[in-house]
Amino acid sequence: MTQPSDKALVPFVSVDNMMRLIHHVGIEPMLRDLADYIEADFKRWELFDKTPRVASHSDVGVIELMPTSDGEAYGFKYVNGHPKNTSEGLQTVTAFGLLADVYTGYPVLLTEMTILTALRTAATSAMVAKHLAPKDARTMAMIGNGAQSEFQTLAMKAICGIEAVRLFDIDRAASEKCARNLAGLGVDVTLCQTPEQAIEGAQILTTCTADKQCATILTDNMVGSGVHINAIGGDCPGKTELAPGILSRSDVFVEYPPQTRIEGEIQQMPEDFPVTELWEVILGRKPGRTSARQITLFDSVGFAIEDFSALRYMRDRIKGTTFFEDLDMLADPDDPRDLFGMLLRAQP
Ligand SMILES: NC(=O)c1ccc[n+]([C@@H]2O[C@H](COP(=O)([O-])OP(=O)(O)OC[C@H]3O[C@@H](n4cnc5c(N)ncnc54)[C@H](O)[C@@H]3O)[C@@H](O)[C@H]2O)c1
Repeated sequence: MTQPSDKALVPFVSVDNMMRLIHHVGIEPMLRDLADYIEADFKRWELFDKTPRVASHSDVGVIELMPTSDGEAYGFKYVNGHPKNTSEGLQTVTAFGLLADVYTGYPVLLTEMTILTALRTAATSAMVAKHLAPKDARTMAMIGNGAQSEFQTLAMKAICGIEAVRLFDIDRAASEKCARNLAGLGVDVTLCQTPEQAIEGAQILTTCTADKQCATILTDNMVGSGVHINAIGGDCPGKTELAPGILSRSDVFVEYPPQTRIEGEIQQMPEDFPVTELWEVILGRKPGRTSARQITLFDSVGFAIEDFSALRYMRDRIKGTTFFEDLDMLADPDDPRDLFGMLLRAQP
């Protein structure tokens, strides 16, 4: 029996290898690298295939597929969102993803993406805040202190120079966990009793809660002028975090309007509510922050191109390393038309 071609073996990054790689690179350097890859792909936004993600909703959550292609590589992520999961000892969000070669259609990478999603979401938030937040922002309010929260904080530190974070969660144990995890990582952490207390003196307000309903994490009167809001948790139909009055007073920046109008904070607004696409700001075609009093709002839902960037980074980064294993994933007979013969020859 001859061996399968090298294309039959697909590099696979397990959770264990992902964690080893992150510690090898360093969390903050990796967040910076990912932000660079994501920013580079926002600059080539127009050449990507774009479609709102394909969502399958149930009473308890959502399962989504997020595909895109730049014409040379094709990528997709499988991701779920189940706010009730943590009460059952499971995570709200889990994910894995695949990158393929458009020329052959053969996959070239399969990877865990639960941790990678937390990194890419945080890297995207910070890359966007770099363009929109007040340049002297040093304090962030972090409302919702679950799985994403430490990643969000460290990305804002590494990329925007945030020095202090003010934590609030309806579950005090989540804030205490976040504070414990951030101890010694170079951020000044304050635990707060209320969301109002958390936003005191903060120039960046991050909302990252999970609830399967339209919640009001920030009310209109809580948000003063001159801040940047990084709204992460409103990312599904019927799942928002901000009072509509805040949206009316803000300049709203989005990833891909057809998806954000379905899933983001702006689902609360009329269909023609004005938004600016981030790629145009990043390319310098549209203004970002234009005044110190302006409220800028990143209505983040998470778009496929950010996952594509993360997959592209992983493909490049694991080359020549031991942070992956070869997965026998593609049937690859010597005679391409003799798939059945290959099966027969494998009979024990
Ligand atoms: N925009 C994106 O790209 C993106 C990516 C990943 C996750 N998300 C979303 O981010 C959210 C957080 O994800 P996670 O993995 O950290 O979830 P998680 O379940 O681990 O944490 C959510 C936290 O929010 C807290 N919370 C719920 N309601 C609250 C309230 N009213 N006030 C304050 N805190 C409250 C919970 O107690 C919990 O600690 C989810 O809604 C998820 O869908 C968005």
